[in-house]
Amino acid sequence: MSKNKYRALVVRGDSEQGFTRAVEELFLTDLPPGDVLIRVHFSSLNYKDALSATGNRGVTRKYPHTPGVDAAGVVEDSNAHQFNVGEEVICMGFDLGMNTDGGFAEFVRVPAEWVLRKPDGITLYETMQLGTAGFTAAQCVDRLLELGVTPDKGHILVTGATGGVGSIAVALLSKAGFEIAGVTGKESEHVFLQQLGCTTILNRKQATARPGVALLRERWTGVVDTVGGEILASAIKATRYDGVVTCCGNAASGDLPLTVYPFILRGVSLVGIDSASCPIARREAIWQRLSGPWKLDMLEEVSTCITLEQVSPMIDEMLQARTRGRIVIDLRPDK
Ligand SMILES: NC(=O)c1ccc[n+]([C@@H]2O[C@H](COP(=O)([O-])OP(=O)(O)OC[C@H]3O[C@@H](n4cnc5c(N)ncnc54)[C@H](OP(=O)(O)O)[C@@H]3O)[C@@H](O)[C@H]2O)c1
Repeated sequence: MSKNKYRALVVRGDSEQGFTRAVEELFLTDLPPGDVLIRVHFSSLNYKDALSATGNRGVTRKYPHTPGVDAAGVVEDSNAHQFNVGEEVICMGFDLGMNTDGGFAEFVRVPAEWVLRKPDGITLYETMQLGTAGFTAAQCVDRLLELGVTPDKGHILVTGATGGVGSIAVALLSKAGFEIAGVTGKESEHVFLQQLGCTTILNRKQATARPGVALLRERWTGVVDTVGGEILASAIKATRYDGVVTCCGNAASGDLPLTVYPFILRGVSLVGIDSASCPIARREAIWQRLSGPWKLDMLEEVSTCITLEQVSPMIDEMLQARTRGRIVIDLRPDK
């Protein structure tokens, strides 16, 4: 391929005609303006990318567009004094892959403020085995710990447990010594969840029993919720006195059918988690943990590596909740 060209997954279309996706050859001059040109080695597939790739206007307003909220690679060119050619960097969140062409491409060009130097103690590949989903799971665990949830106080519930955020959350909590209950719709993945560290597994029906009631028997000292809706509502209703519920996703629903009683009678805290606009200092702190004391040695078991050509069918699988764990995309030129 010519030096000025690169390959990218391009989504084209509109809400009337529908959307198509194909790997295309583009010119580097097609990339948006920015301070740092990154040769992407690895990206990863997140739920938000699946929404962007199917025309969800809450994520992406303008097409043609290249999704991919994650990119890890090497600086190819830089106008920013903080980054030198050849440095290994990661870029995640902000507007990447939303309305700025993203990481499902051999190159991204981004503002310097979006770029992080890869921490020591972790490879570029491992950063994308975690990706935005793993980073978000770490943010949830970090907030639980910050708010005083400790392993001796009781069980943690993780919903959407076989998904990207859910599986990394289970692994991180297990490493920290917590007893974990996982909610999953996949009967075939109970052994996988047990290997990750779940001691109790609930199906979605069990996780939403008695939807009409205001409070349920106190079970969870902490919650990592990735799905929203009735499952999150039930989790909050079953959270113990002073417990903490982190809410980061809406894979099931954006609604939250609930009364105020868990908050005013049990002192439950509901904590929102956002990774996209997370300030740089906090990002760096989380990555230091993920590459140091919280480093996971089982990332191979929770991740699958695919090519750029395999991304489009994988998006369909993800939207039907048929993927497991994390999906890494290998974009290296000489693999
Ligand atoms: N706040 C943030 O910054 C942030 C960052 C990353 C992700 N997110 C959000 O977190 C959520 C999970 O992301 P992800 O990357 O982990 O996605 P994912 O890998 O697709 O996992 C989502 C999981 O949710 C469960 N699920 C899917 N549809 C469901 C339904 N209708 N009812 C109940 N459970 C359902 C499935 O797990 P089981 O089959 O095991 O039940 C699925 O594997 C998404 O909503 C995403 O947008 C937010």
